[in-house]
Amino acid sequence: MVSFDVPAVERQIGSAHLTWAIRWFQSVGSTMDVARSLAAEGAAGGTVVLADEQTAGRGRMGRTWVSPPGENLYFTVVLYPPMGVLRRLAMIAPLAIAEGIDAVTGLRTEIKWPNDVQLRGRKCSGVLIDSELRAGLPPLALAGIGIDVNQDVSAVPELAALATSLRMETGAPVDRAALLAAVLRAFDRRYAEAAAGQDVRRPWRARLNTIGRSVRVTGPGVQEAGMVEDVDEDGSLVLRREDGTLITIPAGEVSLRPAAMTPQQ
Ligand code: BTN
Repeated sequence: MVSFDVPAVERQIGSAHLTWAIRWFQSVGSTMDVARSLAAEGAAGGTVVLADEQTAGRGRMGRTWVSPPGENLYFTVVLYPPMGVLRRLAMIAPLAIAEGIDAVTGLRTEIKWPNDVQLRGRKCSGVLIDSELRAGLPPLALAGIGIDVNQDVSAVPELAALATSLRMETGAPVDRAALLAAVLRAFDRRYAEAAAGQDVRRPWRARLNTIGRSVRVTGPGVQEAGMVEDVDEDGSLVLRREDGTLITIPAGEVSLRPAAMTPQQ
């Protein structure tokens, strides 16, 4: 039976803008579902649903998030953000993950648009945001975060080619509690900045490894290819198509792949 030193994490977060309260579970289907139920029962903003294992972890685009016990971090943050912050959550979350990982490991993470966190071009963390606009109430947002911390992802066929873990990059186990505290501290700081009207797009953009790349973007009703010129105020992708026209693609349910290489003559 694994346990998690929740009071130590809450102590390490220290005084903060949000009121952080971690609810730890040994095993759940998905922390997204537990967080949604707790929110329906009145859980406060800053509630973190943390699980050692997920048996039905979910990723973006209807994918599965591989979530074995004892190795990684899987958590969902319950938030009731003002609209100005809700629009920036898809930047705040990956930025906080990147800053937390860097602080604890000394590595240098990058962000693949819109919110994958990568090390040496391989994914080590992903973000899933569910939000709900509610009449007369602030929106509800559930920010789900998975970080491959100590897992040997090379042993998982569907992850081996594309993913990595912090342990695989540093060569040493990483303390999950210290990492969680560092990510939540960074999240708190960036959230408070966004709530105060400060710019979180700039530091998020500075970590993007997508600008200037040739990509294919696919999703429901979206099939585009071109060169990424920039990201706009809302974090949407600004893509220059091969015919020279520009298109803006919001960071919703789309996935981005490098454009197929032209075979060498
Ligand atoms: C992605 O596809 O990159 C997003 C992955 C998000 C995974 C996290 S793990 C905690 C939370 N619970 C889930 O079922 N998914 C998110």
